[in-house]
Amino acid sequence: MKEHFFRGRRSRRTEGLRSLSRETAVSPRDLIQPLFIVEGKGKRIPVGSMPGIDRLSVDLLSREVAEIREGQVGAVILFGVPEKKDAQASGAWKESGIVQDAIRTIKNSDPSMVVITDVCLCAYTDHGHCGLIKNQMIDNDSSIETLAKVALSHAESGADIVAPSDMMDGRVGAIRSLLDENGFSELPILSYAAKYASAFYGPFRDAAQSAPKSGDRKSYQMDGANRRQAMREIAADIEEGADFVMVKPALAYLDVISEARRRFDVPLFAYNVSGEYSLVKAAAARGWIDESALMREMLTSIKRAGADRIITYWAKGFRSSTTG
Ligand code: PBG
Repeated sequence: MKEHFFRGRRSRRTEGLRSLSRETAVSPRDLIQPLFIVEGKGKRIPVGSMPGIDRLSVDLLSREVAEIREGQVGAVILFGVPEKKDAQASGAWKESGIVQDAIRTIKNSDPSMVVITDVCLCAYTDHGHCGLIKNQMIDNDSSIETLAKVALSHAESGADIVAPSDMMDGRVGAIRSLLDENGFSELPILSYAAKYASAFYGPFRDAAQSAPKSGDRKSYQMDGANRRQAMREIAADIEEGADFVMVKPALAYLDVISEARRRFDVPLFAYNVSGEYSLVKAAAARGWIDESALMREMLTSIKRAGADRIITYWAKGFRSSTTG
């Protein structure tokens, strides 16, 4: 007698069969580890809202990067947490700044580790906004000049990729021009192209001490209700010279990742942000969920949606938590 239904269970009977029919796999090589850099020596300062994540001084980086490499992760993204801040964010492009020092240290100890730098002003301005303030407004055009200087100083220190996260208009073009004029035409730009104004960044702002002193970021970061506008932002950044683009946050924006994957042929990154990490950590600490299983499910969903690479606070421990 002929059956009239689909026996989907046939391909799920054993782990061997499930493995053969699996469409998406996450490897540590897909992952990028964020690192927070502080001033001083011998400093390892835990981030209270992000268990397992520490802010490190430059002298501890070689060892940290060796451990990241042991986990088969080949890229890091750096965030500076400077002590001094001012209205011009002048610490952000200092030759002897913490990020600049961190880049040199990492490239010295592991030259093939890909060093990405976050290019933004929020941790360096005394007001905590991602751009400069003029007449009580975040001034777009003077901000992009400063951002380009920051990107250039990262390039001069040996960064492999610069990643502007400020969401000012025209910053990718401004960075591309200044890099090209200074002999860095081969240096790629990873643009945080579709970055939403999100409550999921809460723990990061604690880690980077970069929360705005007044107001919010809604005049420059995107409105979470918009998907079509994200496509416009991504197209504009590619047009201006972005080599890689990013959607951020990841989990609440999987539809945006999926649409971007369908429309654009450039490598697509997603940022599994601090709040997505801390929610899981908090529930795991209470024994309410299985952290390792949930992490794998989340990262798989981000890849399945269409992201090629994922920035995640789980990168360093990914391999050990999935194999043992
Ligand atoms: C800097 C920046 C932020 C994040 C990455 N780069 C914070 C923000 O925009 O407020 C967030 C990362 C995270 O939450 O893990 N502008």
